Amino acid sequence: MAIRKIRTMGDPILEKECKEVKDVTRRIKTLIDDMFDTMYEANGVGLAAPQVGILKRIAVVDVSQEGNQPIVMINPEVLETNGEQTSFEGCLSVPGKSGQVTRPNYAKVKAWNEDMEEVIIEGEELLARALLHEIDHLDGHLYVELVEGRLYDNSELEEEE
Ligand code: NI
Repeated sequence: MAIRKIRTMGDPILEKECKEVKDVTRRIKTLIDDMFDTMYEANGVGLAAPQVGILKRIAVVDVSQEGNQPIVMINPEVLETNGEQTSFEGCLSVPGKSGQVTRPNYAKVKAWNEDMEEVIIEGEELLARALLHEIDHLDGHLYVELVEGRLYDNSELEEEE
């Protein structure tokens, strides 16, 4: 268990396409444990492997909603989306900022878990947003590309409230 360094916007690794995982090795399990540690330490709800400098199709999500477990997605694939939601979104790779993003309100994702078993993950609202945000990272995309209007400093938004 260890905290890894989070890469921030401008680092070219965040713009690269990640490679499929062929086998969940001990090394990958350690990476996943570290990703959870790193995400919780930074108070995030999701983290993708490229954010810690690893170009593999792995992401973790924990939106801490009632009834939700921490989620590991290996080689995730979006099967279905539905509806629309618009809300402020942030990213641990874009510290201190938020912007308004419209995404589907529902997402159904197929992935492997840590035991290489195929799992279907369904989410609505914040969970759908988190799943899709993390999967975008695996294709080299940051939410800032989707922001409507400008990017805000979080301190600015707190003042408005
Ligand atoms: Ni992110």
